[in-house]
Amino acid sequence: MLKTLSTYFYRTSSKLDRNLVLKRTISTTPAMSTIEKTFDLPKRYKGTKESVWTEYIQLAIDYKPLNLGQGFPDYPPPQYVMDALAKASTQSDYMLHQYTRGFGHPRLVSAIAKLYSKLIGREINEKSEVITTIGAYEALFSAIMGHTEVGDEVIIIEPFYDCYEPMVRYAGGIPRFIPLRLKNVEGRLPTSADWVLDKDELEGLFNEKTKSIIINTPNNPLGKVFTEEELTHIANLCKKWNTLCISDEVYEWIVYEPNKHIRIASLPDMWERTITIGSAGKTFSVTGWKVGWAYCPANLMRNLQMIHQNSVYTGVTPIQEAVAIGFELEMERLGSEECFFVSLPKELESKRDYMAKFLLDVGMKPTIPEGGYFMLADWTPLESKVDLSSEKDKEKDYKFTKWMTKNIGFQGIPPSAFYNESHKNLGENFVRYCFIKKDENLKQAADILQKWKLSLK
Ligand SMILES: Cc1ncc(COP(=O)(O)O)c(C=O)c1O
Repeated sequence: MLKTLSTYFYRTSSKLDRNLVLKRTISTTPAMSTIEKTFDLPKRYKGTKESVWTEYIQLAIDYKPLNLGQGFPDYPPPQYVMDALAKASTQSDYMLHQYTRGFGHPRLVSAIAKLYSKLIGREINEKSEVITTIGAYEALFSAIMGHTEVGDEVIIIEPFYDCYEPMVRYAGGIPRFIPLRLKNVEGRLPTSADWVLDKDELEGLFNEKTKSIIINTPNNPLGKVFTEEELTHIANLCKKWNTLCISDEVYEWIVYEPNKHIRIASLPDMWERTITIGSAGKTFSVTGWKVGWAYCPANLMRNLQMIHQNSVYTGVTPIQEAVAIGFELEMERLGSEECFFVSLPKELESKRDYMAKFLLDVGMKPTIPEGGYFMLADWTPLESKVDLSSEKDKEKDYKFTKWMTKNIGFQGIPPSAFYNESHKNLGENFVRYCFIKKDENLKQAADILQKWKLSLK
């Protein structure tokens, strides 16, 4: 345990802190072991590991690489979005600086209900069918905690956003995994559409213990945009087995032509069994604002409300006000060229294509994403040219990404983090890069990789 603790501190603290911690650990060893035993992580959370984000943020701080790992823009959000926050936070209306309604700031739930009523073709009640949360993360947490009995099975599609699995386990649920598999493609680059679910395998996972399925479209890290046919297959199984669908749609506006984002809640008879989750962080390019939401029928929403009420209670008032202002503006110009939801994917498409080209040039094999702002690339064509023996991790994508960070100054994320323990091998040949970055930084990435390529034998 001591070793585990010091490894943890070693990974997450500065050198100075580490020396202090080590000194304290040595001088208080006997007392610490009793304390450690008494205050150990509760058994139900055992097995939780440091997340890939915690580890790789520290790696970036330690080695200062060009960081294409983390998923956020390295440039400011649109001016009107920043102005909205400035306006919301400088108003003398005292209520904008105090607790707002627990289940969502009135102006924001009203905007969300209006927008999604239009998008899914049914009237959404702003009071009982919408909740706002601290990022999509908290919406996921409330949905999973509020709907999972101990022993319930929850189907998770791999690669998955890494918090789904621990959240299901914390709730006492049993995750059942099914991977998207890359089809054989000859003579062309794969796209995220080439990563598919085996229909029979999916059908085989559903049974009377299946409480819910978590889907993510567009998917992180692949960028897969599930087609209507794929979603209909999932929906039919949900209806057949009376299963809830938790649909993580945080990248709903980042979809490249000719693909279309389809909200599973809008498919026939799916509204009554779907919780849809969104994020202002992705919608307005403001990940640091941490505003998310969920919408679903009132009877499902009550369960989310109970978890939210007793853990978070209420979100940040001025930030919710600012997101509401943003939505109100975008609703007026929805679908037009000026609408941020239209201009953002257009702007990102050329960054996507540029990244695909420079990854290909260095010898990697990218999967072209249909949505989102991440790209998976198969790095194994370069495997014989790099000596990763200095890296001690179990999965080779961890070795590769760490080696690249330390030796080439270029950071990506290891996709095996998005698979459960028994399927990690499926992610090991890949690396995930993020392309919502300034053109000059993408150019720098291309230059670093070119230089590296020239140095390879
Ligand atoms: C698929 C997916 N779901 C949920 C989240 C969490 O979103 P938020 O930052 O709004 O909590 C992320 C963030 O990267 C994500 O990629």
